[in-house]
Formats: sequence, structure tokens, C-alpha cells
Amino acid sequence: MLFKPLFYNVNMKKIVINISMLFLAVMQLNNVTAQQKFIKQKVDSVLRLMTLDEKIGQLNQYNDDWRATGPITPDNNKIGQVKAGQLGSLLNCIGVSRTRSWQELAIQSRLKIPLLFGLDVIHGFNTTFPIPLAEACSWDLEATEQTARVAATEASASGIHWTFAPMVDIARDPRWGRVMEGAGEDPYLGSKIAAARVKGFQGNKLGDINSVMACAKHFAAYGAAIGGRDYNSVDMSERLLWEVYLPPFKATVDAGVATFMNSFNDINGVPATGNKMLQRDILKGKWNYKGFVVSDWGSVGEMINHGTAKNGYEAALSAITAGCDMDMESRSYKNNLAKLVEDGKVSVGLIDDAVKRILYKKFELGLFDNPFKYCNEQREKTELAKPEHAKLAREAGAKSIVLLKNQNNLLPLSRNLKSIAFIGPLVKALKQNKGSWDVEVPGIDSNFIVSQWEGLQNKVGANTKLLYAKGCEMEGNNKDGFAEAVEVAKQAEVIILSIGERREMSGEARNRSDITIPGVQEELLKSLLATGKPVVVLINAGRPLVFNYTSDNAPAILYTWWLGSEAGNAIADVLFGDFNPSAKLAMSFPINVGQIPIYYSHFNTGRPVTSSKVPNTSYIDISVDPKYEFGYGLSYTSFQYSNLQLSKKLMKMNEQVDVSVTITNTGKYDGEEIVQLYLRDKVGSIARPVKELKDFRKIFLKAGGSETVTFVIRKEKLSFYNQQLQWVAEPGDFQIMIGASSKDIRFMEDFELIR
Ligand code: NOJ
Repeated sequence: MLFKPLFYNVNMKKIVINISMLFLAVMQLNNVTAQQKFIKQKVDSVLRLMTLDEKIGQLNQYNDDWRATGPITPDNNKIGQVKAGQLGSLLNCIGVSRTRSWQELAIQSRLKIPLLFGLDVIHGFNTTFPIPLAEACSWDLEATEQTARVAATEASASGIHWTFAPMVDIARDPRWGRVMEGAGEDPYLGSKIAAARVKGFQGNKLGDINSVMACAKHFAAYGAAIGGRDYNSVDMSERLLWEVYLPPFKATVDAGVATFMNSFNDINGVPATGNKMLQRDILKGKWNYKGFVVSDWGSVGEMINHGTAKNGYEAALSAITAGCDMDMESRSYKNNLAKLVEDGKVSVGLIDDAVKRILYKKFELGLFDNPFKYCNEQREKTELAKPEHAKLAREAGAKSIVLLKNQNNLLPLSRNLKSIAFIGPLVKALKQNKGSWDVEVPGIDSNFIVSQWEGLQNKVGANTKLLYAKGCEMEGNNKDGFAEAVEVAKQAEVIILSIGERREMSGEARNRSDITIPGVQEELLKSLLATGKPVVVLINAGRPLVFNYTSDNAPAILYTWWLGSEAGNAIADVLFGDFNPSAKLAMSFPINVGQIPIYYSHFNTGRPVTSSKVPNTSYIDISVDPKYEFGYGLSYTSFQYSNLQLSKKLMKMNEQVDVSVTITNTGKYDGEEIVQLYLRDKVGSIARPVKELKDFRKIFLKAGGSETVTFVIRKEKLSFYNQQLQWVAEPGDFQIMIGASSKDIRFMEDFELIR
């Protein structure tokens, strides 16, 4: 054998020692740069040994056999290709024993380059946390980082190197099934959450045993699919792209995200996968991004369907030229890159650049030193079901529940209730609580889900009688169960009704044109309300739903989303006041689908909605306001905002304005408030939104306690992309708004930015 792998070869020891000495010397100067340099040297030395075929292999990713997350291409020779060094990565391969077997094959290849194992670890691995949209409603960056940390710890213990998360797509259309996977409608909140998730997944550094590579997806503008239809086209101005859709991606770059995934959609006619402006010019150019870009599932080949490539050859040419480094499942790179090089259409340099980016990550993860580093059966056994992980899931769950309505302080419920009727199709459901994008680890008992029924049982004492009736299914017209439900309800002091959409109704390719609560569930509520008993409604969903009957008639509503493994306990904690709800909506809830897309940071327009009779931008049939606005969410206590102070009313470009406000907990319960700072540029060279979130603070206050919160406003917060797409702050008047939601503004005050 002519070529031997550099880092397993005894004969090469000398070189390694020399490089190590070099490394130590440079370390004294600059540790990080030295490390990077060292890895680069190692990458180059491996690259020099590689044939073109092996290089192309590194750019190739296949699906393994766990729950395919896209259309499969039958391939009986995956094993042969791995042994021949023709595969760089596998996705959907779970568990130490399975990843180990594949890795054993990979190191039988000539250069023994290890495989990367990727998976959609979206909201937990074995322990399922709330769906990302729910968690975003906690506005709790620390908790968000922690849940990602635990997900990474569990996933890495099960052989995974790489999660395809976070999804950082801004989403303003709740018909789109994937809103559940992101952080909602706002670029500021979305950026903060995106960074927290990356930090959580990647931990202190890649290569630590409990870190996985994160992946910012889907680059870009995937959330703006026309009509809320997954995979659909996106038509977008450059300004909107820069101001709203790109900031969360930039935040992940700043947080050190290891990889990016491009997206299925086209933007203004150019598929994102073959989009040079996005990947080469912005990501790898302007942002100087050094990680690698993976395509979405089959998206390289799908450029044929888009009509921008005649065949796989053209698709591969378009994607590699545009900066897509790895081809997920389409086999376009595998089947065409060699020919493209031979034909002089693609330079080896271009391929080398992609290969180097991928090898770099493999080195960073430590896979060249030990390809089985993450294949530790013992770790897999001990890390996956730790009680502290469940505890975190319970806390994260409670933090994600949004209290939408609480007439006459029906909630929290008393522990002295004699009887409670828990009714609805979701009361005893198990897996439903996991929402979309859950993971099941083969061979591990991953079914520890606390149902809502069990959660309630765990909470109440022996003196409270619990009654149950299903009432109806989630879908369909059958009302046969209503009579029993009403009978059960009549025997109870309080009714809790758990309804919503099925978990399979949100997620990838699960778009809905009608986002009301399906079936006869709201009719069941009507029958229960007719008993005259107080009813608390729990709404379980993966998106903002439309539920006007419930909103207008139920005395208390908790939006519980899908909360994961500890759903039942988290819900019970909130129902009985062991946890005072503090979440606030990360997405506007429409009155009906006709209002979509709906978001708070719209422009004022030339004919804003007023109460006057002048024809304006309103609807003739409903309000333009959402049912529940961005930033909205109640607590069992109340917060008073007072004493707004601005450090100055005139601010020079290089100065700052400090804005402070005192928040007092005026109610009976301890609780958390999310204080929100919005800004409006009153007159600009282009129209500016009526308000934009620019900062927030989540504070805990004991009943009766108060705290003064200070926000700092510098030029950066006042800047925007002008007509030439330059990032500028223009002198003039700005309005500061401090509020408890995007609508519930408690203070407004102007200041002026001067040169
Ligand atoms: C397609 C999805 O769009 C993407 O988010 C996911 O990571 C891949 N499939 C792999 O499952």
C-alpha cells in the first residue's frame, strides 16, 4: 500500500512529534490561533494524500436507516462505498452500537477518515424538551442554552457528532408547519435564542466529549415560503432579507456555529442551494465563515425540479460553485463532480476548499485521534436518562406555558379542591406531548413521558377526587363521548379541558390552510361550559392556532404547546401555582387566517388604521390587530411599571442613552416579568416599522418587591439598512417604548439623535 493514513501510521510518528513541538511553541503566543493552525496543517497533510474520488466522498452524505426524514434513494452498496472512502457523513444513524459499526467500516478505508454522524436533535434527544417555539416564549436564554446542552450531552453519548439545529428561520405565517421548530417572528429575540442554542449544543468547545456541532438552518429565508407552504418559493427584497431574515444567522456565526444548512426554497428565483449570493458572497465572504455548508435533504438534485438545472450534472455544478460543501442524500456530487472536474467546469481547488472545511471539523471533534471517541457504551447508559435532565425538562416546560386568559383569577387552582374533572383527547396521551421532531433511541427506554393525567395525579393529594372522560377525538365529527364528559364534569368542582392539534399536524411538510382547533373539540368546550362549572382550557399545539370561541368564552386558558417528556408535571406545576407562568408569545396569534402574515413590526403606511372614517389599511370585517400579540402573556401576579427615566434627550452618535424603569410586583405571588424595550425611528430616509424589539430583561420579583431595569441605547440599536443597503443611524427623533408586550406599552418617550 502506497498511501498510509497520516495519524495512524507509526512511520509518521516523527512528523507528528515535530508538528507537536511546533504547536507548543506557538501556543505560548496565541493558544487558539495556534490550535487552528495546527489543525489546518493536519488537514492539509491529509488532503495531500487524497485522490479526487476520496475528496468527493467527503462531500457526500447518506441517510442511514432510522426514521428517514426525506425521500430515500435505494442504495445497496452503502457499505462498499464507506469502505472505499466514498462517504463523509451519515445522518439518522443512532446509538453507539450502530455508529460504531459504521465507523469500523470507515476506518477500513484507505485513509481511514472517520465518518460524521448527524441527526435532527431539535428539542432534546432522549429527554424531550418543549418544542423550540414554546421554549422561545420563555425568553429565557440561560434555560434555552441549558436544554441544548443536555440535548448535546445525551446525543454525543449516543454516538452523534452533529445536530441539524438550531433552525433560526424567522416565521410570520402560522400555516407553515415548521414554525414549531424556530423562535418565532422577531429578528432580535430570534438572534438571542439562536446564539443561546448554538452555545448550548457546542458547549465550551468542539471536541469536548459532551459537545455536538450545531447547524444554523435553513439558509436562507425558508420561513417566508409563500402561502405558508413548506418548500415553496420566497420572493423577498434584499432589505427585508438583511433586516429580518439574516440577523439570526449572523448571530450564530458570531456564536461560533460549526455548520450551516442551506434550504429548499428559491429566493427571487434562485434556489438557496445554488445561491452564490447567500453562500459565497454573504456567508463565506462578508461574514468570513469558516465552517461548512450542508445541503438540505436532496436539495442539490431538486434544482432540476426548480428548473434551474437540466440534470444532476448542472445541479452539482450550481451547488458547489455557490458554496454548498456537502450533498445530503441527492448523490449529485457523487455522480457528477469527477466529470465536472474532468470537463474543467469545477476546479480541484473548489473541491479542496469544501473538503478542508469538513476535515477541519472532523479534526476539531477529535475523530482523527479516536474515531470511536463518541462510541462509549457506558456513557450511553449513564447519560441518557438522568433525573436532572427530567428536572430541567419540567422547568423548561413550565417556563414555556403561556397564560392567555385568567378571568376572576380562576388560576392557580386550590389544592383543597374536592374534585377535578380532567377531560379531553389529550389528557392521557403520551407521545403527543413530544411534538414533532422527537428522537427515539433504539434499545433505550425512551418512553418516559409524563402524561397530563399523571402530572395531575402526582400533584393533588388523596382528598381530591380526579375524574376523567375523553369527550371526543382530536379530529372528526363524532360527539358520542360528549354526554359522558358532561356527566363527569357535573360531578366536579372545576373542569380542566385539554384540546389542540395532533403533533403530526406541525413540523416538516405539515402546513395547514385552516389553523383552527380541529374536529369538535371547541364544541365539547361549549357543552362543558353549559354545566356552569369553571373550565380551564389547555391548548396543545405546534403553532399559533385560531380559537376564537375558546378565547371569548373560556374563563382561563393556558397555551401549553408541546412540552416534551415532563409535560404533565410542568402543566400541573402551573395549574396549581407551584410555578407562576411568565412566558410571553414569540409569535402573533391571528384572529383568522385572513390576517396572515401577521407581525407586530409592520410599517405605518400612508393610510394607517385609525378610528376615523377615512379609507385606510384596515379590513372591513375584522380588526387588523392579532387576537394575542407578540410579547403577550399573563402572570398570576401583576406588575406595575413606574418612574421612566432617560439619561438624556439629545444623544450624539458616539454617546448612549440609558433608559430605566422601575417594575414592582403588586400582586400576591412571586413571579417573573419580561420587560420589553421597543424603538421607533420616527422619520427616516425609508419607512421604518412602528416598533421594533431592541432589548428585554426577564426579572424575578417577590410579591411586593421592585427592581429598576436599565437599558442602554447606542447607535447600533438605532441603525438600519438605508436605500443603498448601508447600515446607518440617521439623526432625528426616536421613540422609546417600554412595555409588557408589543401592544401593552406602559411608557413612551422621545429623544433625538444628533451628529
Ligand atoms: C429536511 C429538513 O428540512 C432539515 O431541516 C433536516 O435537517 C433534514 N431534512 C434532515 O433530516
